[in-house]
Amino acid sequence: MGMESKYVWMNGELVDFEKATLHFLTPALHYGMALFEGIRSYKTDAGASIFRLQEHSERLIESAEIVGFRNLKWTPKDIYQGCIDVVKANGFGDCYIRPLLYLTDGGWNLNVDLGQGSLGIAAWEWNNYFGQDTLDKGIRANISSFTRHHVNVNMTKSKVAGNYNNSFLAKTESVRLGFDEAILLDPQGYVAECTGENIFVVNKGVIYTPATAPVLEGITRYSIAKIANDLGYEIKEQALSRDQLYKADEVFVCGTAAEVIGLCEIDFRTIGSGKSGPITSKIQKVFHEAIRGNDPRYASWCTPVK
Ligand SMILES: Cc1ncc(COP(=O)(O)O)c(C=O)c1O
Repeated sequence: MGMESKYVWMNGELVDFEKATLHFLTPALHYGMALFEGIRSYKTDAGASIFRLQEHSERLIESAEIVGFRNLKWTPKDIYQGCIDVVKANGFGDCYIRPLLYLTDGGWNLNVDLGQGSLGIAAWEWNNYFGQDTLDKGIRANISSFTRHHVNVNMTKSKVAGNYNNSFLAKTESVRLGFDEAILLDPQGYVAECTGENIFVVNKGVIYTPATAPVLEGITRYSIAKIANDLGYEIKEQALSRDQLYKADEVFVCGTAAEVIGLCEIDFRTIGSGKSGPITSKIQKVFHEAIRGNDPRYASWCTPVK
């Protein structure tokens, strides 16, 4: 994956790619005290357009506040503008944008109040997370042997880097076992989410998804819920067991990186017809029109890069 670009936005300045470096003694690197966002820009007929930029900018600051940062010098407006500036400076259309707010200048005694929040924003050209052929074919998943965070152990509503050790454990195990993605259960044993996606189940025309308490409240999850409602589907939030996934008509996952992808198999059990199901495909189609700015109903989700 080529992650090169001409410029990276570092603390308010666009710097050359090679100069976007950190010192080894940056506390964020040692303790996982860094908050990030994953955002996508899409090439549209009207130029590059960033999807749900406002929501991502707000969530980053919220993530930092949840883990205890106070008196941050950055606002959602800085992140919003920084993302536009970095995409524009690099001349990108389709790209992935990665803002990171990270602990610097102190905090070695594990007190966030004694450090500072620094902010960087990189962008690179990154296409399909699971591969173009998975749009119809779907992906294969396993139920992880690792449990998702307990809500009083780590803060599940914060995209804090330290949380992603759990995703690394699950994803590495899943890929080594020959699957594409892992589904994690919450500490009570109910379905939580995947390593970087929220999950939906379709049964007899109704769409179900776990309640938000133990999972990251995905911005794509909310986009999908709106699209599904507009298509006339009811979405019910409720606890789901792993066997409800096994017997579902369709299962699909969504996230900024993965977009919308059906699951064709879970733990060696075929889901539905063994490929992306009809409701998944319908939602996927509208989502792809929305992100490219082709559906006026969702025009407010797209920020032009000007
Ligand atoms: C654990 C986890 N769940 C869900 C998601 C989906 O979130 P979003 O749709 O905001 O990208 C992500 C991706 O950021 C994630 O890391």
